[in-house]
Amino acid sequence: MTGKEIREMYLKFFESKGHKILPSASLIPHNDPSILWTAAGMVPFKPYFTGAAKPEVTRATTCQKCLRTPDIDVVGRTARHHTFFEMLGNFSFGDYFKQEAINWAWEFVTKHLGLAAEKLWISIYEDDDEAYDIWRQDVGIADNRIVRMGKDTNFWEIGVGPCGPCSEIYYDLGAERGCGSPDCAVGCDCDRYLEIWNLVFIQFFRDEEGNYTTLQNKGIDTGMGLERVASVLQNVRTNFDTDLLRDIMDFTGELTGRRYGSGDDIDLALKVIADHARAVSFAVSDGALPSNEGRGYVLRRLLRRAVRFGRVLGVAEPFLYRVAGAVIDKMGDTYQELVKNRELVIRVVKTEEERFGETLAQGTDMLTRLIQEAKQTGLNYINGGQAFRLYDTYGFPLELTEEIAGENGLTVEQEGFAKAMEQQRNRARSARQETEYISEKAAHLKTLLGQIGETVFVGYEALSSKSVIKAIFVDDRRVEQAGAGQEVELVLDITPCYAESGGQVSDHAKVSAESTEVAVEMVTRPVEGLHLHRGRVTGGIIRVHDEMTVQVDIRRRMNIARNHSATHLLHKALKEVLGEHVNQAGSLVAPDRLRFDFTHFSSITPDELDRVERIVNEAILNNLKVQTLASTLDEARDMGAMALFDEKYGDRVRVVKMGDFSLELCGGTHVASTAEVGMFRLLGESSVGSGLRRVEAVTGQGAIDYLRAKEDQLNLIARTVKAPAHELVHRVETLVQELRSMEREAEAMRARLARYEVHSMLDAAQEVGGIKVLAARSNASDMDSLRAMLDLLRDKMGSGVIVLGAASGGKVNLVAGVSKDLVGRSLHAGKILKEIAPLVGGGGGGRPDMAQAGGKDPAGLDNALEKVCALVTKQAAN
Ligand code: ALA
Repeated sequence: MTGKEIREMYLKFFESKGHKILPSASLIPHNDPSILWTAAGMVPFKPYFTGAAKPEVTRATTCQKCLRTPDIDVVGRTARHHTFFEMLGNFSFGDYFKQEAINWAWEFVTKHLGLAAEKLWISIYEDDDEAYDIWRQDVGIADNRIVRMGKDTNFWEIGVGPCGPCSEIYYDLGAERGCGSPDCAVGCDCDRYLEIWNLVFIQFFRDEEGNYTTLQNKGIDTGMGLERVASVLQNVRTNFDTDLLRDIMDFTGELTGRRYGSGDDIDLALKVIADHARAVSFAVSDGALPSNEGRGYVLRRLLRRAVRFGRVLGVAEPFLYRVAGAVIDKMGDTYQELVKNRELVIRVVKTEEERFGETLAQGTDMLTRLIQEAKQTGLNYINGGQAFRLYDTYGFPLELTEEIAGENGLTVEQEGFAKAMEQQRNRARSARQETEYISEKAAHLKTLLGQIGETVFVGYEALSSKSVIKAIFVDDRRVEQAGAGQEVELVLDITPCYAESGGQVSDHAKVSAESTEVAVEMVTRPVEGLHLHRGRVTGGIIRVHDEMTVQVDIRRRMNIARNHSATHLLHKALKEVLGEHVNQAGSLVAPDRLRFDFTHFSSITPDELDRVERIVNEAILNNLKVQTLASTLDEARDMGAMALFDEKYGDRVRVVKMGDFSLELCGGTHVASTAEVGMFRLLGESSVGSGLRRVEAVTGQGAIDYLRAKEDQLNLIARTVKAPAHELVHRVETLVQELRSMEREAEAMRARLARYEVHSMLDAAQEVGGIKVLAARSNASDMDSLRAMLDLLRDKMGSGVIVLGAASGGKVNLVAGVSKDLVGRSLHAGKILKEIAPLVGGGGGGRPDMAQAGGKDPAGLDNALEKVCALVTKQAAN
């Protein structure tokens, strides 16, 4: 059975059991800043298990794209680990529970996949007798085949969130795959017993203190690793040998001329590249881009790791983008988004590979330096910390550093390397929250949400409300009251305030009662359904349960709405002008400006910018009606709505429509018709990363202010050049012409002056023993003019010795020239300067006929020039 057939069979099976087949959610979790990637099939459903959101159906089944990086170092070294993998799952949201989950799992595995019952083993959570009874009595599994295991393996939880005991199905691959230890059994780390399916009985919510509360609705979350099941059914040794990955490895093998099976190093590299190429292709097609932080950092790490393994296969030029192409060919019919974003994926990967190629070259330079330094200081090793820097900054694998060091008779200090690596891991772990699923504060607020209910947001329709204070926080502590001067965070039952999200900044508002007032300057929504209003109490004492009037700062809200609506128009205009590959990668919608980041691979020409601005302004002038519609994601997609990140199925989504021009999924606040935007002005564009551009713009009053400022500037210029605005261009052109002709005149004057100077200097020449000698000061401001002066004098003087000195800006320049006939008589310009340059605090010299020198002591110049005659006499006497 091919991977594709298994996938389809699984989904059809659960469809026949009343489940709705849903498409895989994005690898980028929706509305969940606490996690970087979708790492399990249950992730998109988290709010359905906790009851925070209501699902459309109570039974669902998916094949979910997953990405996990904690195992990255063992990928390719074991038979069964991946960064990217597909997880088959069936889910119950308060519908069926253990009985059905277990029976269906068994039915599917034995009847549909046809796995032999005698090869299957079951694990259950140690005290889960309910699960035991179902396996033992309903299914009829022998008692010695049901293994009770502890919390570390059979209780599924990640940090804070929905969790519960679980039961796993193992497949016995046979003693020959085992470690041979007499203790080898289910749960052993070796390759013999392969866990193929995990059934989680979701029944608890774990809070941040580690307390478990029973969930109102119990649920089921299961996960079957597609690649693992395929390896069993296809009877191959590793996941990599299944059709899911083998085709990709063979492609890379062909591309690089290395055959799978021709050596351990080669095989490992082919496996790592296949795994990482899948991860990278899917991540980019879901909207991630390489960068130095968060998700982008993980992506960059995967990409560079794959490139480094490419070096093992002997490829130095970009190749991974081709492997990504093979991934798209292989998986595109199941995952349409790959096909849709083919060009983007290929370009992002290729660009990053090229960039990394450059850093690798810099790394080589650094390593060469390190080797030299080590040799010079007599060390026979390279410092481990520095080798780590090479690895970390330039992506240099330790093995490569060791190899090159070895060729130079050096080793690499392993301990220091390992220590630096560990330190960096700790930093990265805490910074990237890779294992933390829900942050602590969010969990705390979720508990609060359970107690006081959701904040009702009325801000799409209203700009003020009568609201009751439900909770007050001061310094993250919940308090009953707060007084004037205190910084507080308020939770209200109803709010018209828009909380910062989707790039749109939060509203400002006044929350007041008769004698009390809070100036709110920041509203956030740290967990779905809960608005936190941060501000300062400016008068009176506020108490929980007080009724207050909330008034949004209307002017600010309108300015934000203008910029937000303009952002949609801009997005569409960019697609029209630059192409469909343009996708939003981030935005800032503030009252005074907007910023829009998007995917595009070259800079934008002034002409393209002009066209974009024109299209947006046309849409504004066309006074398009702005409507918001509630719809499902599928409907919205069918309508052609633009959405990249906001994928979340089952749910109602909000679609913002502007005439027939623009259609986007969006939760923001907008103007009622595009004419209200008033005016749109682009301020410029720049690059913000590989394949990522940024434009900034202003609208409405901001655009008017901007143009006003430009006009003021123009008026100021007009006044300065004394011309009325309409004659300004002509006036400036005339001024520039005048300036040019005056410069030419000045140039001519300087030349005449120089000639005049030459004449008067020649008068100062002396005769020393029949040789004409001129040693004089000049006004020349630099060495070039001084040499030009020397040439002029030589022409005029004929046979003779000339030494010129000029002092300016604390520096001295000296030049000397000796005519040909005198060179023959042992006179030497270079030697003259060598003697006198020290007198001006410098040095220099040159040829017998021509020399120059510099110094730092202008006070000695006269003295130096006076010495010239004596030197000539001395040289002439030789
Ligand atoms: N959520 C469970 C897992 O990832 C099924 O193993």
